[in-house]
Amino acid sequence: MKKEQIVKCQFSEWYPVFKKHTIKSIVLQIPPEVIDYLLDNGTLVLPIRNDCPSPHEDETEEWSDEESSDVATLSDAQWIALNSTLCCHSLHDVLLLLKSSDLIAHDLTRPFLLCSDDSPDPEIHYQLALRKWCELIPGGEFRCFVREKQLIAISQRDHTQCYRHVHALRAEIRASIHQFFIGLVQPRFPDDDYVFDVYRDSQGRVWLIDFNPFGDVTDTLLFSWEELTDTARLPSSGGNGEADEQDLPVFRCVTEESYLQPSVQLGYRLPRDFVDLSTGQDAYKLIDFLNLSSGRQQTESSDEES
Ligand SMILES: Nc1ncnc2c1ncn2[C@@H]1O[C@H](COP(=O)(O)OP(=O)(O)O)[C@@H](O)[C@H]1O
Ligand SMILES: [Mg+2]
Repeated sequence: MKKEQIVKCQFSEWYPVFKKHTIKSIVLQIPPEVIDYLLDNGTLVLPIRNDCPSPHEDETEEWSDEESSDVATLSDAQWIALNSTLCCHSLHDVLLLLKSSDLIAHDLTRPFLLCSDDSPDPEIHYQLALRKWCELIPGGEFRCFVREKQLIAISQRDHTQCYRHVHALRAEIRASIHQFFIGLVQPRFPDDDYVFDVYRDSQGRVWLIDFNPFGDVTDTLLFSWEELTDTARLPSSGGNGEADEQDLPVFRCVTEESYLQPSVQLGYRLPRDFVDLSTGQDAYKLIDFLNLSSGRQQTESSDEES
């Protein structure tokens, strides 16, 4: 994996190109103080909730999606959200999620760690992408692997569950994603090897969710890197020997309830932060967490009063 490949997958690089086909989003510059807070191990504390500006106040006018650079990602921090989703209602929610993400720490400190080229690191201006919350149908997300500009494999995104409707509609799903790739992604994405995530809605329309580098930082789900880097090892969808051109992309979904694998997110369920909170070893994280909870309770009780 090359450093350039990572740069091309940054949210603000591709968002302007695919804006009409993905979730509405805005990109914020991250001030250096926030980076310091995210990297700090405990000497900085989140301001109390009422001091935090709300995303609905005036400073939203300063938000811009024109300038491009990088996006912080945070799906691995889902475990800490009070309702177990990534849905945020305040800046406080966002900061707590960011602070709880191991992947953010990786992005902020060693984004090019797994790259094979030894050229100087490209300059990064960190940004935060906020995306409008959408209720996605479970099982509707798929990860698509592109090698040498060809869509070679599609995997069910949540590979820990069996969704019968996905298996029943697999030919249709594969065809609609392939068409989306040929018509939209392939002509516009400026790389040969990459991974993209899509969502297929109840009307069968395909939406772009994210781009990821074609390399070890990206989870291969129902495939392996051995298969993906050597298509001769990629058995056809029907399992009758290796795939040839017309078999590609190979589509995989979970077919049997017994074929359960641990969720990647579960791998993050007992991170340092949780242990710190439960053992009281990091008092500052505990203070952040209690501030957040008490802020929520205050909001709820004032809602009830009004
Ligand atoms: N706007 C949204 N509304 C609802 N769920 C979302 C939204 N954006 C992302 N998700 C969920 O979070 C997952 C990860 O999103 P993604 O943009 O790939 O972030 P990351 O790169 O941090 O994993 C998606 O696969 C989807 O399930
Ligand atoms: Mg992603």
